[in-house]
Amino acid sequence: MDMKSVFPEKIIRYCSLLFISLFLVPFADASQTGGEIKVWMPISLNDREVYTPAPKPQPRINGPLVYGCRQRNPFLYRIPCQGERPIQFSVKNLPAGLNLDSSTGIITGNTPPKGEYNLTIKAVNSKGKDQRKLKIVSGEKLALTPPMGWNHWYAHYDRITDKMVREAADFMISSGMADAGYQYINIDDCWANAPKASDSLRVGPLRDDKGNINTNIYFPDMLGLTNYIHSKGLKAGIYSSPGPLTCAGFTGAYQHEEQDARQFASWGFDFLKYDWCSYFGIHKDDNSLEAYQKPMRQMGSILKSLDRDIVFNLCQYGRADVWKWGGEVGGNSWRTGDDLGFELDRVFDVAIRNTKYRQYSKPGEWNDPDYIQIGWIGNAHGMGAPELTKMLPSMQYAYMSLWSLIASPLIYSGDMSKLDAFTINVLCNSEVIEVNQDILGECGLVIQKADSSFIMIKNLADGSKAVGLFNRGKNIAEVEVDWTELKISGKHAVRDLWHQKNLGAYKQKFRAQVPAQGVVMVKISRKQN
Ligand code: GAL
Repeated sequence: MDMKSVFPEKIIRYCSLLFISLFLVPFADASQTGGEIKVWMPISLNDREVYTPAPKPQPRINGPLVYGCRQRNPFLYRIPCQGERPIQFSVKNLPAGLNLDSSTGIITGNTPPKGEYNLTIKAVNSKGKDQRKLKIVSGEKLALTPPMGWNHWYAHYDRITDKMVREAADFMISSGMADAGYQYINIDDCWANAPKASDSLRVGPLRDDKGNINTNIYFPDMLGLTNYIHSKGLKAGIYSSPGPLTCAGFTGAYQHEEQDARQFASWGFDFLKYDWCSYFGIHKDDNSLEAYQKPMRQMGSILKSLDRDIVFNLCQYGRADVWKWGGEVGGNSWRTGDDLGFELDRVFDVAIRNTKYRQYSKPGEWNDPDYIQIGWIGNAHGMGAPELTKMLPSMQYAYMSLWSLIASPLIYSGDMSKLDAFTINVLCNSEVIEVNQDILGECGLVIQKADSSFIMIKNLADGSKAVGLFNRGKNIAEVEVDWTELKISGKHAVRDLWHQKNLGAYKQKFRAQVPAQGVVMVKISRKQN
């Protein structure tokens, strides 16, 4: 039957136009249509859906593009590289004094004299090859990109043992976290003796007759432990307090600061978290800036005088605007607030608050909003055994995106023995991590949208922008970023970082459907991806 004989031609034309404009245009590539909006709905709300594509069999070298160290101190760097092992590594322009193990990709030796060294790392396996630049800066500053690693606190509290720490190092390698860039295996509180503790085996003399700090029975051989961690190319962290006792009541460094720091160095530690706690009782009512700075400045300068690179993490919960002076007293990072604890729905607020101190975030000096607590973490009540987090999967993606966009240290604090595919996918997306490790060290800028949504913009060293479109609401929401907010114009390529997919070119804005309490994270660059 001829349609025209049933419907006048005008009606047919009108209906087709209506069909095209209602259904086809919103899904077409904006650059082709000359339009400006593409509605994009890539994320389903399925529970624990893995977005990060599995690493390919061919090598992909990860890790920072710049690495700080101090001359003549021991050097250790494991090249983070995904892909099927065995992988053969080589390094062009490796400075004298450094040696590469070509099968493990671990570089050891002594840091060369002050200066900058531009290396090219190559990795080859039977499936392919990759290469990446690395600038070694032998100077004063460590942690030129945010430290990445693991800390035991939120998983194991006062149950931590040497064995659990060694296992964490094993899992760091076997899970692929080290290949994505995680390096530090950090012991938190409870490794020393305490005057009293719920586990009587952790009670004992705090120091020996020479004043050396004692470990408790669960840490019989600290040097053996760090040797084990180092043998895998990873680094080791320890914890103390400027007060007489730590937060959990174990020996602190008060009046033994230099002796303890030297002990930590001779045990082979590479990272110190220095936690205020009982020091509140020492500085009592003196709320002057100097009183807050004193113990941190003291430890900062002791650490600098040691012949070992020890990254210094201040933990005094953001008192006296620590972001303004933490770097000056020798800190590489500083906690900006109290424990994130278990009120994990605060991750949005905490990250947004951190952006208020964004001007203080820079290479070697990082705002630290506390650890990444996903996967199996210690029970909220009474520091119980680890349980699977109840945080919405979409919020876990948001959490990792926020910490990456604000250039926070990426320290995972969950049970490494229970890492599952979903948690690994959240922790190990190499493109999201690259945003965190960007060498500009910029902390993102927040632009508030509707009540429950905002975007976070971070400028990257290659001229592109990482943008998180966040939705804090209980329902899916549309969030957009306009090119004027990014101070760019014209056609730009948009890449979805969680799915590692190019989305095409956009002219004036990018708009996405963002899941409830979730994120869509993109990289926007001038060139086509
Ligand atoms: C807190 C600190 C936590 C953890 C704990 C150990 O003060 O903020 O991160 O280190 O002490 O007792």
